[in-house]
Amino acid sequence: MMTTAVTARAHTNIALVKYWGKADATLMLPQTSSLSLTLDQFYTDTTVVFDPTLTADQITVNQVLLDEHASRKVRHVLDLVRAQAGIQTFAHVNSANHVPMAAGLASSASAFAALAGAASRAAGLDLSARDLSRLARRGSGSATRSIYGGFVEWHAGHDDASSYAEPLVDPVTWPIAMVALVLDAHRKKVSSRQGMQSSVTTSPYYPAWKQVVARDLAAIKPAILDQDFTTVGEILETNAMRMHALTLSADPAYSYFNGATLQAMQTVRELRATGIACYYTLDAGPNLKVFCQVADLPAITARFRQDLGAEQVIVAHPGPGLSWRS
Ligand code: PMV
Repeated sequence: MMTTAVTARAHTNIALVKYWGKADATLMLPQTSSLSLTLDQFYTDTTVVFDPTLTADQITVNQVLLDEHASRKVRHVLDLVRAQAGIQTFAHVNSANHVPMAAGLASSASAFAALAGAASRAAGLDLSARDLSRLARRGSGSATRSIYGGFVEWHAGHDDASSYAEPLVDPVTWPIAMVALVLDAHRKKVSSRQGMQSSVTTSPYYPAWKQVVARDLAAIKPAILDQDFTTVGEILETNAMRMHALTLSADPAYSYFNGATLQAMQTVRELRATGIACYYTLDAGPNLKVFCQVADLPAITARFRQDLGAEQVIVAHPGPGLSWRS
């Protein structure tokens, strides 16, 4: 049984109320709860097989073998799975990220959610969605939410057992979309781990951020349930800017924005001024995501394709939760 290969697929998610700061870096407990939308366009397929002939874990991503350092977090999740399953066997892990070419969009959320799904089943465990979400969390915080589709809340909790995600709405029938703008395909210079750490320890605004998140979560959940587009859009945009204010107010200060990011934000405001409702958000990198209603997609994509080129504009819709394939 242990040598059965199991493949799982998980989609990435974009946070509408961001997670930015750890309370416990070992257990990966966040400072605050957060809320996201899982997207259909970007996903990871991961196959895991525990193989008694191996003397170390063998991990490849997009057919490239990872070295000790790059595979650290993956091996950490495998160790947790081995401990739960009571086995010592090493594993082959093959992971393929289906993110449009050079999009520079984050894949750790989909990668660790898919790993949790594939590794646990390959080890003979049958975990609940909640326990999969707790396991994914140990690889990457945002992965906690990618176990589920649609709108998902990650409850911060106070220990390993109480920090997990739960779906708010899944599947999503609301005709909304997220337009991803590829403004820079390079890797981020400040990792989210480093960025969070410096924001928590050096930004004088960090206590205010915790209040912002509590307020935004309380307001966005009923707005999502009511399909109140304007309220959801306003909250996700101000929340993203307030998260990024933590980077500008850190010591030393840094930013994930570049010139193209600021330009695209301005375009969103211009579109809004002409009556096309849309709002932006962005994570630990310069690529903007534009939240809009499906009916406005033609106007919004036409504008950005004209500014940036057709390949730089990717339309995503709400996506599904973790699945397994045979
Ligand atoms: O868990 P990580 O390292 O993928 O960090 C996620 C940080 C943000 O994407 C900026 C916010 C979020 O909630 O996803």
